[in-house]
Amino acid sequence: VLIQVQAQNAAQANYDESKVPPYTLPDVLKTTKSKKVQTKTEWETIRRPEIIKLFEENVYGQMPKSYDRLTYSIKNKNADAMAGKATLKEVTIEVVKNNNPVKINLVLFVPNRQKGPVPVFLLINNRGKDNTDPTRAKKSDFWPAEMVIDSGYAIAAFHVSDLAPDDTATYVNGVLQLYPEQLTANDGMKAIGAWAWGACRVLDYFEKDTTIDAKKVAVVGHSRGGKASLWAAAEDQRFAMCMTNCSGNTGAALARRQFGERINRINTVFPHWFATNYKKFNHKENVLPVDQHMLIAAIAPRPLYATNASKDLWADPTGTYLALKNAEKVYGLYGLTSNLNANPPAINQPIINSILGYHNREGEHNLTAYDWSNFIKFANVHLKK
Ligand code: GCU
Repeated sequence: VLIQVQAQNAAQANYDESKVPPYTLPDVLKTTKSKKVQTKTEWETIRRPEIIKLFEENVYGQMPKSYDRLTYSIKNKNADAMAGKATLKEVTIEVVKNNNPVKINLVLFVPNRQKGPVPVFLLINNRGKDNTDPTRAKKSDFWPAEMVIDSGYAIAAFHVSDLAPDDTATYVNGVLQLYPEQLTANDGMKAIGAWAWGACRVLDYFEKDTTIDAKKVAVVGHSRGGKASLWAAAEDQRFAMCMTNCSGNTGAALARRQFGERINRINTVFPHWFATNYKKFNHKENVLPVDQHMLIAAIAPRPLYATNASKDLWADPTGTYLALKNAEKVYGLYGLTSNLNANPPAINQPIINSILGYHNREGEHNLTAYDWSNFIKFANVHLKK
């Protein structure tokens, strides 16, 4: 029955561009005291912290930064993985707070031919664990490790269930045990916050791994994982780059367009994803003090790549592109010009040579080899240099 109701809601969503209501986005460069931000110093000291706080209070919940200790052990190592091309490490990262532990199982391949610390793509895996098979008996375009290794990057992944099971009843069994105060606060983090928190802890680990260049970590996520990759990159400025793939509502797409998935729907079907306060904005997109272009702006001046798929109107490709477009002026404060036209590019026409990159891939909602090949091209321009 629930599945039927969900399908019905999705079918009733608006997919007609002419029915997008008129809307005004909150001005990313205007402070809550109505002061116009003109310099990057004002942005960094006043407006950016304000925006992060607004997202914490109203959308994703707080992001606790303190813990008592982080330790790690190498569960398995193979210096001759992928026919000698890579070194595999399966790392168990344990984070403890108030005697409560969380264990993150990281799979990491590092290219062997590369000298010195290498940049890495870190996937927040929200799909099956067999997508990141360390033995490589199973290969998947969701995490095409061989392609990334051949391009000279390391590739890593962890599964969201290590941090918070993606389930309304059991999401509390993970990070939330370390921060019980989050469970009762209206602005407490829930599952998506916990997944982003996990990405930050993996970055803490990368800072201890001498084979990895922790200053060049790209955080990658698809769909609900792409919502988390954006939130991680916005919260933690150590991430050098962000990839958000088909992330849609409460990801990279503008809420005020009310196109495809809406806030009411996401809060109803996935009540365990966002802060309780977010439910106040069910059917009330225009009252929300933020919109998603502001989350992208919070990642400036770091490079960001967003994608959509042509048949995935649920995730609003046009609204995603417009969120990037409306974040441009913050990158402009850093002298970074992105060359985004007013309208989205045609299908399969990636925008790579721009600090805000984008493509709309032909096809269905998914993370594919095509998407990854463009992530690599984008990283070659913006991360490696
Ligand atoms: C659902 C949900 C989306 C989400 C997607 C996914 O469709 O409504 O918000 O992005 O699942 O994670 O694949």
